[in-house]
Amino acid sequence: MNDKDQIILAIESSCDETAVAIIKNGREILANVVASQIESHKRFGGVVPEIASRHHVEQITIVLEEAMNQAAITYGDIDAIAVTEGPGLVGALLIGVNAAKALAFAHNIPLVPVHHIAGHIYANRLVKEMTFPLLALVVSGGHTELIYMKEHGSYEVIGETRDDAAGEAYDKVARQLGLPYPGGPHIDRLAHEGSPTIDLPRAWLEKDSFDFSFSGLKSAVINTLHNAAQRGEEIKPEDLAASFQTSVIEVVVTKAKLAAEKYNVKQVLLAGGVAANKGLRAALEKEFLETDIDLVIPPLNLCTDNAAMIAAAGSIEFEKGKRAGLDLNGVPGLEL
Ligand code: KG4
Ligand code: ZN
Repeated sequence: MNDKDQIILAIESSCDETAVAIIKNGREILANVVASQIESHKRFGGVVPEIASRHHVEQITIVLEEAMNQAAITYGDIDAIAVTEGPGLVGALLIGVNAAKALAFAHNIPLVPVHHIAGHIYANRLVKEMTFPLLALVVSGGHTELIYMKEHGSYEVIGETRDDAAGEAYDKVARQLGLPYPGGPHIDRLAHEGSPTIDLPRAWLEKDSFDFSFSGLKSAVINTLHNAAQRGEEIKPEDLAASFQTSVIEVVVTKAKLAAEKYNVKQVLLAGGVAANKGLRAALEKEFLETDIDLVIPPLNLCTDNAAMIAAAGSIEFEKGKRAGLDLNGVPGLEL
């Protein structure tokens, strides 16, 4: 490392992972530590906010120390502390925000607030340099959005979900099938064992709309299960999973392709926890293979919540001069 290198330490605690990462020059990961709480929330079938906050308090200093050891740096080497400001669970966000403030104050390091979704998008920059204009397809537990970016740090939401996020729909359908939380990976696995033989709706919405809606699909899955139970018929969970996944992927991939063409983008970035979905990754690869649009898909560990992505987005915000004071707060409904 030399003096000109830019070193960013980032903290992420918006939901159920306590994460600290350190990256060099916006793109090179020196440390990326994630403490997941999934095991603690499983028996409740979802994230319990109070439990999440308590875990973050317990984990944050341990994860921080581990990241500093991995990167083998001192606080004097760090140019900025980036932290997820929102959106997320307020009690969870506050743990990360307060840790970041304490570090920034104690070591006199600039504090840079980061939007969680900007982080998901910038996970891609750890894989490949961005080329603008680009389209980001964000599919996570809380968000389903198509975002147009004409340059670094500029986000125009051109489509979003009107009800459930894609990941939320996955988790709710999984719950109906008696699968553990989070259900997305289980549906993904089952879908590959079954066939899409059950007729389920696709919500295209108005012509030319890039918005999404998944609650109708979710209800259709629930109705299918109830009707079958009343008639004493058996439905193969693999086939229902395959049918559900086919519907989600068809709508998401079609809208992403139409948006990429309409906005004439050079690159399409996949982002968010549902980006780990094998069916979605394969369908996007197939759709963009024959085009001159460059498709970037992060590795699985950078799709789900982590702090390396927050550091990557923070690096750009830092360069653009974005700073927060010690009055920084966690903002649960922060807009991009
Ligand atoms: O981005 P993320 O880690 O947290 C949020 O910011 O929301 O996304 C978590 C979501 C969960 O709903 C989970 O079920 C879903 O991502 N997920 C998947 C897969 N892996 C994780 N959904 C479908 N297929 C997967 N393989
Ligand atoms: Zn996330």
